[in-house]
This record gives sequence, C-alpha cells and structure tokens, in this order.
Amino acid sequence: MIRSLVAGAALIAVAAAVQAAEPTEPNVVARTAAMKTIGKNTKLLGNMAKGSVAFDASAAQQAALAIAGEAANIPSLFETQADDPASEAKPVIWQQYDDFTMKAADLEDAASAAAESILAQADIGPALGQLGAACKACHSTYRE
Ligand code: HEC
Repeated sequence: MIRSLVAGAALIAVAAAVQAAEPTEPNVVARTAAMKTIGKNTKLLGNMAKGSVAFDASAAQQAALAIAGEAANIPSLFETQADDPASEAKPVIWQQYDDFTMKAADLEDAASAAAESILAQADIGPALGQLGAACKACHSTYRE
C-alpha cells in the first residue's frame, strides 16, 4: 500500500515535470515542433559528419531540405505573439520582427546551400558550420 502510494506520487511528479517542459498553447506547440524537426535533422547531419550514422548523400540532402522547409515556415509560425510557460521565445521577437524573419531566411539559405553542397561526408562539416551560425545568430537574441 505504502509502496504503491510512493510509486503513484513519483508518477505524478514525473507527469508534472513533463507538463512543465512541454507547451500546450497551439501556436507555441506548432513553432516548437518545427524547431524540434530542425534540431532532429541537424543532429542527423552531425551524426553523419562524426560517422556514428553511415553517410548517405540522399538522406543528408533530405535532412538539409527539411531544415530549409521548416525555416521557410518560421515567419508564419511566429506571427502571433503567443506565450506559454514552457516557451523559450523572447518578447523582443515581436519588437524586431523584420530582423527575426531575416534570420529565418538566413537559415533557409544556409540549408538550401547545404542540400546542394553535400555530396560527400567531408562536405557536411562546412555545411554544419554555416547552419550552426544561423541557429546561433537567432537563438542568441531571440531564445532564452
Ligand atoms: C529565426 C530564429 C531562429 C533560427 C534561425 C533557429 N531557431 Fe531554434 N528557436 C528559435 C526560438 C525563438 C525558439 C524558442 C521557441 C519557443 O520556445 O517558443 C527556438 C527553439 C529551438 C529548440 C527547442 C524546441 C523545443 O523543444 O522547445 C530547438 C531544438 C531549436 N530551436 C533548434 C534550432 C536549430 C538546430 C537551428 C539551426 C539549424 C535553429 N533552431 C534555428 C528561433 C530560431
């Protein structure tokens, strides 16, 4: 009995932690889902660069195209100034929306260029350098 109570309390604690970390506001859910897709594809490229995932030119190009596609959606995904306790977006986004969308366009350009330049495993590193710079340029100003 005590044991199941403790287990139940632990489950509730875990559920609460998950809830705190995951947004529920629909706009925030959509924009963080896009960022997760960008993150997942960037990680795949990183793993191919390291060799922990076998290099596959077509898969690498698809990953870059997926990043470009999500980057193109950033301006509309962030258009509404939505908030959520789990959001890491800074309000300054909506004070400098033109600059924010320019940084999204920079990522789209870097990802489109990566989709063309990655023909061999050795091409991934330089492409990731460009992509990483585009993430950082935006996150450093607009993400907590
Ligand atoms: C134009 C700006 C911009 C660019 C470019 C950008 N991000 Fe983001 N990113 C954001 C903002 C803003 C958030 C916070 C969103 C929120 O929590 O509401 C975020 C959040 C994230 C998150 C967390 C998502 C979650 O689960 O809450 C990941 C992962 C991420 N970005 C990865 C990347 C990667 C990788 C790149 C580059 C390949 C990138 N981002 C480029 C603005 C950008």
